Amino acid sequence: MMGKVHVYDHPLIQHKMTIMRKVETGTKQFRELVDEVSSLMAYEITRDLPLTDVEIETPVSVSTQKMIAGKKLGIVPILRAGLGMVDGFLKMMPNVKVGHIGLYRDPETLEPHEYYLKLPTDVTERDFIVVDPMLATGGSAADAIAALKKHGAKSIKLACLCAAPEGVERVQAEHPDVEIYLAALDEKLNDHGYIVPGLGDAGDRLFGTK
Ligand code: PRP
Ligand code: URA
Repeated sequence: MMGKVHVYDHPLIQHKMTIMRKVETGTKQFRELVDEVSSLMAYEITRDLPLTDVEIETPVSVSTQKMIAGKKLGIVPILRAGLGMVDGFLKMMPNVKVGHIGLYRDPETLEPHEYYLKLPTDVTERDFIVVDPMLATGGSAADAIAALKKHGAKSIKLACLCAAPEGVERVQAEHPDVEIYLAALDEKLNDHGYIVPGLGDAGDRLFGTK
């Protein structure tokens, strides 16, 4: 069984992605849009969170209502570009813990290299969402997920803004237990490993480098 792929094609997400893709969109607006789309994705990804009954008192009566059942979650951005998605998730889930994994992709070989890893101490008890705007060859996401598993993580989802079919297939092949959540599934990779049409280098566009 392969991990499922969910493409969130809500009109607000499609509209914001279109502006993000435009070459003339500058760093300030790009960062704001990544943040907004991330919040919209967080809203959808958490649709299956379990609820529990709580008894409360309104100004009118005592009542049994629902609250999220204390599930332990963790967000893990892949540095750098994944950082752009963290605040959008935290707006929806302010109490989740945040781990970090640093990977950079060698521009020649396209192989990812790990340079940083810091996770919450109770890794085995948490459900993790790995976040990275771009899923290109899938090497970075597949390695980040493998690193999380090596440290004991048992439940992992992957959330990306823009993906190439090659990246989706690689994560599905290496991690069939991981469901993938996307804002857009694009056509292909070009010869330099960039997503087409894509949105360019997400890290550079977020942080104004280059
Ligand atoms: C980008 C992007 C992903 C990775 C995707 O990061 O943010 O992490 O490439 O490519 P892949 O699916 O082929 O591995 P990059 O290595 O450019 O580092 P940065 O975020 O520091 O700019
Ligand atoms: N990394 C990016 O930031 N963009 C791509 O299109 C591919 C990898």
